[in-house]
Amino acid sequence: MVLLLFGPPGCGKGTQARMVSSWLGIPAISTGDLLRAEVEARTALGITAAEIMETGGLVGDGLVNAMLIRRVEHSDCARGFLLDGFPRTVAQAGFLDGYLASRQLPPGRIIYLDVERQTLVDRMSARRQCPVCGKIYNLLHQPPRAKGVCDNDGTVLIRRKDDHQSIIRQRLKEYDELTGPVLDHYRGPRVHSVDGDQPAERVFEDIAGAIQWAPEREPSSAA
Ligand code: AP5
Repeated sequence: MVLLLFGPPGCGKGTQARMVSSWLGIPAISTGDLLRAEVEARTALGITAAEIMETGGLVGDGLVNAMLIRRVEHSDCARGFLLDGFPRTVAQAGFLDGYLASRQLPPGRIIYLDVERQTLVDRMSARRQCPVCGKIYNLLHQPPRAKGVCDNDGTVLIRRKDDHQSIIRQRLKEYDELTGPVLDHYRGPRVHSVDGDQPAERVFEDIAGAIQWAPEREPSSAA
């Protein structure tokens, strides 16, 4: 199974990716996390990506496509995988379609997490994350048990550089202009819209229901 978790910044893709991945036993691949690891390691890709990410833009399609393929070629993806934050442009969607077809994998199922704009801004402003295990918190809705440290490993939580008001606005603008049209690319029965403005456990239940209901293969005309 190939699942695409789709939606605007802050809609809950990372939160749900971890829950769905552990339920289905397939890896969750976040292009944002892959890029942040490149930035941390100061690779050539990371140096290019850092400037773009810090200003709320999108990293170039060619760079992101190549990075994604390197990851999904790993053996843990043989049974399927879940993508969080990819595709993010119509060009990336076309590239992914071609890649899945070339590997004779079923076309992806798209879970669109629908969340109102102000809620997105509030969530991102209050997000904190563990830099070691990646667990995502929210100071308003999902706080850590002890203030400022991760429940899993006690690491001091960090605030993402792109979670500041002016950058959040730019990320939402990029979403509207470049990523939103990806939904039109996939329009049809493979797209499942889920209300992302509910407690995380309820959102997960709705995603699980949509996956169980949806047939594995859609007629090619539905793509
Ligand atoms: P990326 O890391 O993918 O960021 P994003 O898409 O902007 O999404 P976020 O991680 O901000 O939010 P999310 O939807 O995962 O929500 P989360 O679960 O954390 O990308 C970062 C950057 O990398 C991009 O701007 C771009 O520059 C670059 N990039 C990445 N992919 C790229 C690509 N394919 N092409 C080009 N460039 C790319 O939740 C948010 C908060 O809400 C958390 O605090 C969480 O605790 C809370 N929360 C979650 N669910 C709920 C709920 N149900 N109720 C209440 N609170 C909730």
